[in-house]
Amino acid sequence: MCCKISLINTNWYYLYKVDLKSISIKIFNTNFENVISIKTFKLNSNMSKSIIELKSVNIYQGSNTVLNDVNLSVEKGEFVYLVGKTGTGKSSLLKTLYGDLELTEGEGWVAGHNLRELTWKTVPFLRRNLGVVFQDFQLLTDRNVNENLKFVLKATGWIDEKLMDDKINDVLSKVNLAAKGNKMPFELSGGEQQRVDIARALLNSPKLILADEPTGNLDPETSDEIMQLLFHICKDFDTTIVMATHDYMVINKYRARTLKTEGGRVWDNATVSSHL
Ligand SMILES: Nc1ncnc2c1ncn2[C@@H]1O[C@H](COP(=O)(O)OP(=O)(O)OP(=O)(O)O)[C@@H](O)[C@H]1O
Ligand SMILES: [Mg+2]
Repeated sequence: MCCKISLINTNWYYLYKVDLKSISIKIFNTNFENVISIKTFKLNSNMSKSIIELKSVNIYQGSNTVLNDVNLSVEKGEFVYLVGKTGTGKSSLLKTLYGDLELTEGEGWVAGHNLRELTWKTVPFLRRNLGVVFQDFQLLTDRNVNENLKFVLKATGWIDEKLMDDKINDVLSKVNLAAKGNKMPFELSGGEQQRVDIARALLNSPKLILADEPTGNLDPETSDEIMQLLFHICKDFDTTIVMATHDYMVINKYRARTLKTEGGRVWDNATVSSHL
């Protein structure tokens, strides 16, 4: 609840309710005696600075509570690490954000989508606004890079062949793989496969990328290359990135806000030791 009073012309404007979805204003007469009207303005995602908002969220895996009372706000264009010991809920939190785990308690908004209102019909709309990057790449092994990317475009409603080809060339050049479109996944190094995975996440020009241990399977030098790419995407395309990681070297070298899962809670601006 918030209250701010202003005198505009001859009426008093009393801001009396603000939540994630709307703000409400009561308009009083000059003497502040009678309510002339109440106006409620719906907020859309463009009006808010945050791309992720969680309030009093509890996250479950089956009947077990994984995370309690999660309150989190991530702004557009931020880079945020998510660290914590194995089994403390990093992937569960990311899954909640991309609609793979149902949100049943608390309030949650991601890229303008209300997580409480997601259904199997509306999850694809959320997914079109974000890109997800995994540790194990998850490329289709029976088709080349171009066909892997086209498969995703078709699945998200693209039809025009020329536009699809242009988009594929665009995302492959963003990850410096313009020359590798005809390669099969097994013909690529681990780092190149991870870059294809990032290219796939960029296909629908997302404002948010959720990355679950994207450097988990890579050697230090290749991890470095992927981190430079992710920071470049964040900075140059104003893309928010939330990245779960155990990689202390990476966190130490590429500094950013760090969330930590521990003891069933999410801690903000965590200090990180080398034992992740
Ligand atoms: N599909 C599932 N069904 C039931 N329990 C699960 C499932 N997935 C994860 N869990 C449990 O939820 C808890 C949190 O798991 P989660 O995968 O979110 O942890 P994590 O922090 O990502 O771990 P890691 O660092 O190993 O990836 C663990 O106790 C795990 O056993
Ligand atoms: Mg995990």
